[in-house]
Amino acid sequence: MGDFLTDVQTLRARAREHIDKGPVTDAYGADIERVISVLNEALATEIVCTLRYRRHYFTATGLDAKPVAAEFLQHSNEEQEHADLLAERITQLGGAPDFNPATLTTRSHAEYDASTALLDMVREDLVAERIAIASYTEIINWLGDGDPTTKRVFESILGTEEEHATDMLEFLENMQ
Ligand SMILES: [Fe+2]
Ligand SMILES: [Fe+2]
Repeated sequence: MGDFLTDVQTLRARAREHIDKGPVTDAYGADIERVISVLNEALATEIVCTLRYRRHYFTATGLDAKPVAAEFLQHSNEEQEHADLLAERITQLGGAPDFNPATLTTRSHAEYDASTALLDMVREDLVAERIAIASYTEIINWLGDGDPTTKRVFESILGTEEEHATDMLEFLENMQ
């Protein structure tokens, strides 16, 4: 056993202290308040992305619209799943997930969009995905080894955002 590992007696004793903190132990290596606030910014981003794609799904018209609209709907549903994962992690860490609609667009990294033309919708979705990708990549690097579970949540979400960006780019290239 390496010197860096805590002995069993101490581990057991520590686990009994601060039982009210649930899964958060002394071994937690990140700034928890900052992590919760970053998670809430990402939650706002995912809710705005859910709404933007939903709006695009219902308003996509034109000859090219059907397959694109189907993709908008799928993305909207996946953004909702991301929002749920983030809210769940916030509560695991003892924080409060912020669903306040009044401050949603200012807290979100990506923007809402109400374009009327299909091409504009696709372009705005691609921009929003690129914002999410850049911000989640930064968050993952910032988390480092301090909170592997939160890091894993962001890594799995990041993978989907990269797929979303690829989907939108493909449409954009075929529409121009
Ligand atoms: Fe997402
Ligand atoms: Fe996305």
